[in-house]
Amino acid sequence: MIGKWPQRLLSRLHSRLRIDIYRVSKEEGATEASTMSGHTLPCCKIGPSILCADLSCLADECRKMIHSGADYLHLDVMDGHFVPNLTFGHPVVKCLRPKMPDIYFDMHMMVQNPEKWVESMADAGANQYTFHVEACEDIPALCRKIQESGMRVGVGLKPGTPVETILPYSDLFDVVLIMTVEPGFGGQSFMEDMMSKVQYLRTNFPYLDIEVDGGVGPNNIDVVAEAGANMIVSGTAITGASDPSQVIALLRNSVENAIQKSQLER
Ligand code: DX5
Ligand code: ZN
Repeated sequence: MIGKWPQRLLSRLHSRLRIDIYRVSKEEGATEASTMSGHTLPCCKIGPSILCADLSCLADECRKMIHSGADYLHLDVMDGHFVPNLTFGHPVVKCLRPKMPDIYFDMHMMVQNPEKWVESMADAGANQYTFHVEACEDIPALCRKIQESGMRVGVGLKPGTPVETILPYSDLFDVVLIMTVEPGFGGQSFMEDMMSKVQYLRTNFPYLDIEVDGGVGPNNIDVVAEAGANMIVSGTAITGASDPSQVIALLRNSVENAIQKSQLER
């Protein structure tokens, strides 16, 4: 027990350091995201989902995304219970971390009992732990656990879950993830009617990091950006493109324009 604390503390410091590196290096001169209770405006971040990439070459696929201009990596963890599909867990993340020490890992935890994997994911080097509100019994306890492990706290909402579900806990989240498909599979069609949730959150929480995930790509990025999302997850539209850097640049351009426009209107 005594020996456990220094290691946990170190891992927490290390994780925080990585977040700081991410914050400093990505957007020189731009505004930066913070917690819901923070006081800095969110900036654009593009996070490819590698779900539909060639997972036999995971590190290479991730490097390709980073070299193509990604700000972070969105890693989809599925347990076959919360969603009808299986992917990978913390052992894979732990192997990936030393190959890209400074990259922000956003763990999308599509799992039952999300509290079960917090410590293992922190130890593996995750930076953000996004659990699903539908799978969580004690939201404050889980948020505290994630934060104490040194990771940013994300909460995800399936398409059928109203945004009001999370409002009583709004102080506890760094990121709210609005799903724009039913979680479980890549390559599905984007659900535009989810944008009302994004708009509501952006209006009421101007400092919040709002992430969207599912079917997002060049065809719908303008509505996503105008609704107020600033963390853009995109899977097949990026990994399936002949030139991923072009798609990432296009997504970024749309979000940055929308942010700039909204700041001029303030
Ligand atoms: C779906 C996943 C998403 C998705 C993204 O359950 O959480 O990250 O695979 O891929 P696209 O953009 O292809 O929907
Ligand atoms: Zn995802």
